[in-house]
Amino acid sequence: MRLLLVSALSLCTAVLARSVDSYVVSEAAIAKAGLLANIGPSGSKASGASPGVVIASPNTVEPNYLYTWVRDSSLVFKVLIDQFTTGQDPSLQDHVVNFIDAESKLQQLANPSGNLTTGGLGEPKFNINITAFTDSWGRPQRDGPALRSTAVITYANWLLKRSSSSNVLETLWPMIKLDLDYVAANWNQSSFDLWEEVESSSFFTTAVQHRALREGAALAKTLKQNATAYLTQADNVLCFLQSYWNEEKGYLTANTGGGRSGIDANTLLASIHTFDPAAGCDAHTFQPCSDKALSNLKVYVDSFRSIYALNNGTASNAAVATGRYPEDVYMATTPGLAISNPWYLTTAAVAEQLYDALLVWERQLKIEVTETSLSFFQQFEPKVKVGTYGLLSLTYIKLLAEVKAFAEGALAIHAKYTPSNGALSEQFDKTNGTQVSAKDLTWSYAAALTMFSARASKVPLSWGAAGLTVPKVCKPGPPLPTSTVTFTVDATTVAGESILLTGSIAELQSWSPTTALPMTADGSTWSVTVVVPASTIVDFKYIRMLDGAVTWESDPNNEITTPAEGGEATIDDVWR
Ligand SMILES: *[C@@H]1O[C@H](CO)[C@@H](O)[C@H](O)[C@H]1NC(C)=O
Ligand SMILES: *[C@@H]1O[C@H](CO)[C@@H](O)[C@H](O)[C@H]1NC(C)=O
Ligand SMILES: *[C@@H]1O[C@H](CO)[C@@H](O)[C@H](O)[C@H]1NC(C)=O
Ligand SMILES: *[C@@H]1O[C@H](CO)[C@@H](O)[C@H](O)[C@H]1NC(C)=O
Ligand SMILES: *[C@@H]1O[C@H](CO)[C@@H](O)[C@H](O)[C@H]1NC(C)=O
Ligand SMILES: *[C@@H]1O[C@H](CO)[C@@H](O)[C@H](O)[C@H]1NC(C)=O
Repeated sequence: MRLLLVSALSLCTAVLARSVDSYVVSEAAIAKAGLLANIGPSGSKASGASPGVVIASPNTVEPNYLYTWVRDSSLVFKVLIDQFTTGQDPSLQDHVVNFIDAESKLQQLANPSGNLTTGGLGEPKFNINITAFTDSWGRPQRDGPALRSTAVITYANWLLKRSSSSNVLETLWPMIKLDLDYVAANWNQSSFDLWEEVESSSFFTTAVQHRALREGAALAKTLKQNATAYLTQADNVLCFLQSYWNEEKGYLTANTGGGRSGIDANTLLASIHTFDPAAGCDAHTFQPCSDKALSNLKVYVDSFRSIYALNNGTASNAAVATGRYPEDVYMATTPGLAISNPWYLTTAAVAEQLYDALLVWERQLKIEVTETSLSFFQQFEPKVKVGTYGLLSLTYIKLLAEVKAFAEGALAIHAKYTPSNGALSEQFDKTNGTQVSAKDLTWSYAAALTMFSARASKVPLSWGAAGLTVPKVCKPGPPLPTSTVTFTVDATTVAGESILLTGSIAELQSWSPTTALPMTADGSTWSVTVVVPASTIVDFKYIRMLDGAVTWESDPNNEITTPAEGGEATIDDVWR
């Protein structure tokens, strides 16, 4: 009876597998071609992009994604660098060299986040001709330098086996070091998240920063460079990383700010992009098969079951289409129903995390069920108990088959809503599954390819997640250099009226009129002295407060670049 059940299950999986197998074969080729079409200079959809520049999408209206993001580009090139360094596609080296050249130039560009020495590496997005994008945006985003260094380090490690270390030291190390130094110096500063909406601390950002510092330290040692700061900060980051776990609710809180549940694909993406098979099911680095990452996956997937009509009717323990986070309203298509749509890359992330988990369980010949992962496993086997299930146990075999079926289910959804020409946009409609938002999203193609690799058990290289110890007490990162600015404004006031200051940085209360800094009057001159981050562009305005009523200065914002470290400046303004 039990054996029958297992074979029935494997039969189901086998039937599903056959239907998705052909999708994987055809879509892998289409995704690779779609990805390459979005890379300059010769990509068929990337006209105007400089060599090595990845456009996010050729879409120019609603939304306009014809820009290059450091995050997207680095994730895309990690796929190509993996294919190149593992010998799957030896033709990619020119692309890789172009990418490294383009990114080295972007690093040097002064931009609204700063220049090379004043925080410019946190700039998320550039024009595709390698010039700065100067409109307002959610900046800085501090995952970019980490992801870029991970991509380039993978290539550097390959090159080290084939050329001298002095070659790598001269050609690649300088740009890798810029990114690593940025991460080591800035990981403990707030950042916009990967969706460019919330400025706080973000799990994805912290997790990829941790990985970059670990593999950066290893490369530094190989090249006989000083790895001390990277190792010290990696320990600090690993410690901080633990704080995102919500023990009571069993999931990772994606952002420390934002006022949402915190359930977010951010965390699954972090798990798959920091997968290290050598680390087994380690929960401190949130490996795909760790109890915390599995519990988190269940909470995340379940949060989409009832909000998308196309998930209606799906069994409560089967995969469904998923989006970025349940409260998302970006590009909501149904008027009056402000809920966003499922994304290809997040639905793929569910499958990929579970394919990664299966790979490790099959290697270690056992599955451990803990209190934390119990709810994940019980959705398949309601009677399963906390314990370790080895090769000879039926539970091991059943759980493997059921998790595989769940992953294949997510892949089948991805397949079902992909049109017959194989093109992948950013999203598909939550009611009828037609494509929504940017067409030919390069990241959608990259995410399909990494999902397919994981399904084929292509084992990624280790980056050093195994055997780490989390420090008992978390230490902060290095403080940012500061300088001092005295703001003065000439403003005539009536009795009871006061002048306050607010602006774009935390030190100026992040544009909050209610917590704005009070200024002191000397005649009609109002002033306040503030310690601010050095060499930083700051926007600000003065406001009037009378009986609790706020009057803002007229537009535009005032702007200054704060003095270099230790410097002082006085601003003389007149109320507008
Ligand atoms: C960066 O900007 C700072 C402050 O404006 C300036 O002192 C420094 O020379 C600039 N550095 C580079 C590399 O341009
Ligand atoms: C680069 O692209 C931007 C945005 O499209 C454009 O405004 C600018 O003129 C271009 N610069 C050069 C040097 O081509
Ligand atoms: C900085 O690190 C400390 C120690 O881990 C942590 O408590 C704090 O929340 C961090 N802040 C940011 C913005 O990363
Ligand atoms: C290596 O870096 C650490 C931390 O930045 C520093 O304290 C130490 O002096 C450096 N060691 C050498 C040999 O330069
Ligand atoms: C799912 O179907 C039920 C029953 O037909 C319906 O009441 C509900 O509104 C549907 N959910 C969504 C998100 O459309
Ligand atoms: C799918 O739904 C969207 C949003 O409701 C709508 O704009 C579109 O016309 C629909 N497409 C089809 C083929 O029904």
